[in-house]
Amino acid sequence: MSSNPRRPWVVGVSGASGTPYAASVIRALLDAGESVDLVVSRAARLTILDETGISFRDAHWKADLAQWLGREEKELDDVRYWPAGDFAAGPSSGSYPAKGMLVVPATTGAAAGIALGLSKDLLQRTASVTLKERRPLVLCLRETPLTGVTLQHLVALDAQGAVVLPASPGFYAGGSTAQELVDFVAGRVLDAVGVPHRLYRRWSGSLGEAGSTPGSSPETRSRRGE
Ligand SMILES: Cc1cc2nc3c(=O)[nH]c(=O)nc-3n(C[C@H](O)[C@H](O)[C@H](O)COP(=O)(O)O)c2cc1C
Repeated sequence: MSSNPRRPWVVGVSGASGTPYAASVIRALLDAGESVDLVVSRAARLTILDETGISFRDAHWKADLAQWLGREEKELDDVRYWPAGDFAAGPSSGSYPAKGMLVVPATTGAAAGIALGLSKDLLQRTASVTLKERRPLVLCLRETPLTGVTLQHLVALDAQGAVVLPASPGFYAGGSTAQELVDFVAGRVLDAVGVPHRLYRRWSGSLGEAGSTPGSSPETRSRRGE
């Protein structure tokens, strides 16, 4: 038996607008040398199709994921994919050695199901397992405005130990493109679980830096080839 078992982060993509947040989180996890287990809800296929034009298929997930992330298939060797209806999948059990789970983006429906422990699909079941095993769970919620019922679900999730992280970009990091604002939110998701990244420029304690050097995150400079 290996003394160093694979310990992935589960990334659950639910059907909220904001699929670029998921792509940025997955890319950054892989860049940090982390393993990823991916679960895509049925509704998320609609948002992926709507926002990227990609039909995400169980049987061709690797090719579809490569296209979505803008990476080669061979760069995805440390990604495992589990169909959302597969309740026998590894992450559905607490004995599966996951590090934790990031639901990006999270729908209000997923927040409700996880808060109430509904386990209506593998994404929700894995989130409940993550909570019962006291592992880190982050929900990157994308909805506005919020109903009182959703606010109650978010309070319940917080009380159970989940991090509720609205997809709410900050402008102090100097982001001037949509991708930089997406990367800011993705970076805050990774901050919540302590995974190192170069997705945005951190606050240094000096006012005025956002306006003077826009677009200066390490990730942006690396995309520009600097
Ligand atoms: C194009 C599109 C965009 C959507 N955007 C959101 C959203 O931003 N937030 C949200 O909570 N639900 C959104 N929905 C609705 C959810 O997909 C729907 O509630 C679904 O039942 C969620 O299922 P899931 O949590 O299993 O993914 C959107 C649906 C579509 C088709």
